[in-house]
Amino acid sequence: MQTVVVVGTQWGDEGKGKITDFLAQRSDIVVRYQGGNNAGHTIVLDGKKYALHSIPSGILNPNIQNILANGMVINPKALLIELDKLEGMDYKIAISDRAHVIMPYHLMLDEAKEASLTHKIGTTHKGIGPAYTDKAERTGLRMGEFVNEELFKSRLSEILVQKNQQLAIYGKKPLAFDDIFVEYKVYADRLRPFVTNTSILINETISKGKKVLFEGAQGTLLCLDHGTYPFVTSSSPTAASVPINTGVAPWLINGAIGVTKAYTTRVGEGPMPTELNDDIASYIREKGHEYGTTTGRARRVGWLDLVLIKHAKTSGGLSGLAVTLLDVLSNIDTLKVCVAYELDGKVIDYIPSLVNDFGRVNPVYVELKGFKEDITGVKSFKELPLAAQQYIKFIEDQTGIKVVIFSVGPDRNQTIIIDDIF
Ligand code: GDP
Ligand code: IMO
Ligand code: MG
Repeated sequence: MQTVVVVGTQWGDEGKGKITDFLAQRSDIVVRYQGGNNAGHTIVLDGKKYALHSIPSGILNPNIQNILANGMVINPKALLIELDKLEGMDYKIAISDRAHVIMPYHLMLDEAKEASLTHKIGTTHKGIGPAYTDKAERTGLRMGEFVNEELFKSRLSEILVQKNQQLAIYGKKPLAFDDIFVEYKVYADRLRPFVTNTSILINETISKGKKVLFEGAQGTLLCLDHGTYPFVTSSSPTAASVPINTGVAPWLINGAIGVTKAYTTRVGEGPMPTELNDDIASYIREKGHEYGTTTGRARRVGWLDLVLIKHAKTSGGLSGLAVTLLDVLSNIDTLKVCVAYELDGKVIDYIPSLVNDFGRVNPVYVELKGFKEDITGVKSFKELPLAAQQYIKFIEDQTGIKVVIFSVGPDRNQTIIIDDIF
């Protein structure tokens, strides 16, 4: 396939950064298409760990173009801190002139709104919801305006009147125009050379027959439309959202690789039917280092839930799966996998749209034999212990999706291709 999307099939943190970095080795451009620095994508290369938030995970591959597309919300200050950490490295980035800018008032509103809620969402406090709200409300500031000093000045003074009114509702002090303008003008000057029409760039690359990798943030269950609303983020991470978030025709997207953790994790609030609160959860959390890359919060941990993966397949489209963190499951006697839910005496194999119903489902489990061996050095499917092979085959049988990649450790070289689809 020439164009492929890397998409999370659960509640984020599936290892999308690692898989994107791996596939980027054979790609010409990598395009981040939604979300902002709420994302935390970890890459380990030759033992060195990199945590990316807004920068696409192709960045460690020299000679390829990394694009921050129009569907993203970008915090200029945070992006520049990230870029500064890459100093001395050879990289190429382009930022869409249509992407929206996260400003200080978005961060304040995110925090104030959360503090005011009885049922909190558990956001990352990065201003994501308020920035996408402004986009939908048609009061947002776009990158193209931000890097045009005159436009930035006039838009900011207009926007601040409204934002100070909103902040006052939460008892917050008004923000001064000069403070923000003086600080952010410096960021705009630094980012200006990268800002362009990225839709043209991506379309040109595709028409030359070159390879394009689209990198999603978050996961399908955090999708504004198809996730566990309202415990979701404010954009759509699904492959179906790629055309609108990048400015590419839907028929130019060839396929999607669904990155699936071998178990389930979730950060923030909201139901999670297979959640565990026992010794197995602690074992998995410690072995898999299940602490947030962005916020450091301990991730909730549970058994693999295949209803989620089937939902990701139907709601956004998946042509293959990349199963990650398989190594973490070694040394567990019995592995439980959720294949359906029981709700009010009925067995269902879909996710109810009402979050209250979803919170009441009981998982229906199938028990599979675990494996004892350390698999972190495995280089092929055949080298896996039989029980680990059967675990992968079970995922394929239940979901009807082929597992095309599996991963047995955080390093780029601990990634094994079963079926070369990109
Ligand atoms: P992302 O947000 O989907 O990119 O995932 P994160 O980077 O937030 O979280 C995934 C974590 O798992 C990171 O710490 C990765 O380094 C790590 N990781 C990825 N794949 C594997 C794997 O196969 N085995 C192990 N042990 N760790 C992995
Ligand atoms: P990556 O790309 C895991 C969660 C937050 C919260 C909800 C809304 O690393 O997989 P937001 O700040 O977006 O308004 O928070 O979404 N969340 C993530 N959880 N991985 C992420 O990104 C996430 N990005 C947002 O914890 O529950
Ligand atoms: Mg993450």
